[in-house]
Amino acid sequence: MARQIGKNSISSLSAVTMTSTQPQKLKGRMFSVQAALPKFPVAPLKQTLDKYLQTLRPLVSDQEFEQAKKLCEDFKNGVGPELQAKLIERAGKHTNWLSDWWRNIAYLDVREPCVINSNPGVLFPRGNFNDLEGQLNYASRLIAGLLDYKVMIDEQTLPVEHLGKSPLCMMQYYQVLSACRIPRVNKDEWVCFPPDRPNPPRHITVVYNNNFFEVPVYGSDNKPLNTSQLKGQLEHVVKQGSKQGPPLGLFTLEYRNNWANAYQNMCKDETNRRSLESIQRSIVVLCLDQPNPSSTDLRTGSGQQMLHGAGSGGHSGNRWFDKTIQFVVGQDGSCGLNYEHTTAEGPPIVQLMDHCLDYINKGSDWPAADQVTTPKMLQFNLSSDVENSLNLAKENADKLVSDLDLKVFTFEDFGKDFPKSQKVSPDSFIQNAIQLAYYRHHKRPVGTYESGSIRMFQLGRTETIRSCSSESVAFTRAMLDPAVSDGRKAELLRRAIDSHKQYTNDAISGKGIDRHFLGLALTAQEHNIELPKLFKNRNFIFSKTWRISTSQVPAKSESVMFFGPVVPDGYGFCYNPQEKCILFGVSSFKSNDKTLPAAEMSELVANSLRDMKKVLSSSVKSSL
Ligand code: COA
Repeated sequence: MARQIGKNSISSLSAVTMTSTQPQKLKGRMFSVQAALPKFPVAPLKQTLDKYLQTLRPLVSDQEFEQAKKLCEDFKNGVGPELQAKLIERAGKHTNWLSDWWRNIAYLDVREPCVINSNPGVLFPRGNFNDLEGQLNYASRLIAGLLDYKVMIDEQTLPVEHLGKSPLCMMQYYQVLSACRIPRVNKDEWVCFPPDRPNPPRHITVVYNNNFFEVPVYGSDNKPLNTSQLKGQLEHVVKQGSKQGPPLGLFTLEYRNNWANAYQNMCKDETNRRSLESIQRSIVVLCLDQPNPSSTDLRTGSGQQMLHGAGSGGHSGNRWFDKTIQFVVGQDGSCGLNYEHTTAEGPPIVQLMDHCLDYINKGSDWPAADQVTTPKMLQFNLSSDVENSLNLAKENADKLVSDLDLKVFTFEDFGKDFPKSQKVSPDSFIQNAIQLAYYRHHKRPVGTYESGSIRMFQLGRTETIRSCSSESVAFTRAMLDPAVSDGRKAELLRRAIDSHKQYTNDAISGKGIDRHFLGLALTAQEHNIELPKLFKNRNFIFSKTWRISTSQVPAKSESVMFFGPVVPDGYGFCYNPQEKCILFGVSSFKSNDKTLPAAEMSELVANSLRDMKKVLSSSVKSSL
């Protein structure tokens, strides 16, 4: 998802306290090409400035554009080359010049709640059960699937992922199980306990009725527990956790400094400290939820359960949103996950999820492990200070949650098959549908973010694909003009798609602009050089105010990811394009009177997809 990098976030660059996670031996199949992956380049200055002007053109007036050109010239002839030289110097000293900076700026420095603003939720296909027994069966199969997958991570045997023909960096896979974020004042900490370190984690955290349990998932022979043993562990949890605990999970929906202060207070008590460490060190968190209240839109209700837990009256106290992976299994068949974004992007999480979901449907199991240790309920002693902070956390969590409007839906008219039949990129087709949907209501183009993977570089994360272009605006305007023929609309649509695909190819191959600009701004800050005028310019900032924040997260299963908008008057769009349908998660904020409710924006997206199919199909017919 998009990171809205603001002024405030370019503020502190001090070192992150974290466990280094570079595996000591990168020798397995999973890392067979790791060392040969290229380093993330520093793009030529002129290329970035030219491309910036190209993306700014549809967003500003002629006069503003002339002003922007002048600022770019001044930058190129002024401090730009010095910053560029210093950035190139940094790139020579780091495996990836961006990765540490990015971890801080995009995640650990941010003081807003992680929930909604950063952590995505994922809704799985509904499970076929409706009671506690079914819930425990499903959850134990899910964890067995996870342990099955973990063997491939531990032994570094996962196949290297590819984007097209390019192999991708696999480091995120290595870190997703057993990483955690820790609240600290002004900058959080990130810890990871990877499998190649001594004493790797051998337990998961299970949360039930707000009670936290350390649940061993390996036997004394170091073999993973099988499904029936895991189910036995969960039955222990349910028996011991029948009385509701304090909703400590609400802390993890808090503003980070509030949570950091409460955390410091909690850690004064040795028992609390040990319990918190147990959660941080666990492989994943598994939340076993009580049934949901009945809802007219079951999928959207379950989506909220995954994204934020539906507040203090729902399941938010039964969560630990600081943990990298948190599975959620309800009693009514609703299941999914939530993930903390510092460690990884969606694709590695979704690969793991698809493996677990496949595993659930398989009948197979493995032999029982030896001597299972019984789950232990984690104890917490809450001082009156901590109780007070928890009351505030409850208030803030309820405000946060009640402001988000979410719609989860499947567009069933067609999937990737239609754009492919038209010989155009499905992703670029969908991005232009989002542009059209937005334009139909708001009647103006805005800065649009799509995540593009730069994992073809060592330790690469994402680059911004700026999906709004002069071509997309020409297309959206034509679609609203009854005087324009379908043939002309189709031509403009194809141009808009080609332009988006070109930007995508550039962004994923290190020729994007947003990470480069960020690197130049951070270089200025690190060397006490005044932030160049270009970066302070209103139009520059406008061009990267992501009122449309989007991401494609494809999965084999009919699962869908979603996240909140990154600015108050924005929307979040996430989609999983399948061959015959497209799953969407769309969000907006209820408190914003400029944006539409998520359900209405979803309707506009669906109608735009249909209209685009119509113009492309009719243009093919007329050219026959
Ligand atoms: N004609 C026919 N078929 C085409 C085509 C064309 N002109 N262009 C593309 N296709 C096909 C592709 O071959 C592919 O086929 P497949 O379904 O058999 O795999 C399919 O259409 C999808 O291609 P496309 O829609 O172009 O998207 P992509 O797979 O190249 O993905 C991005 C584009 C931007 C999503 C991808 O590059 C990326 O960066 N993904 C990671 C995003 C991320 O990190 N998100 C998470 C953030 S939390």
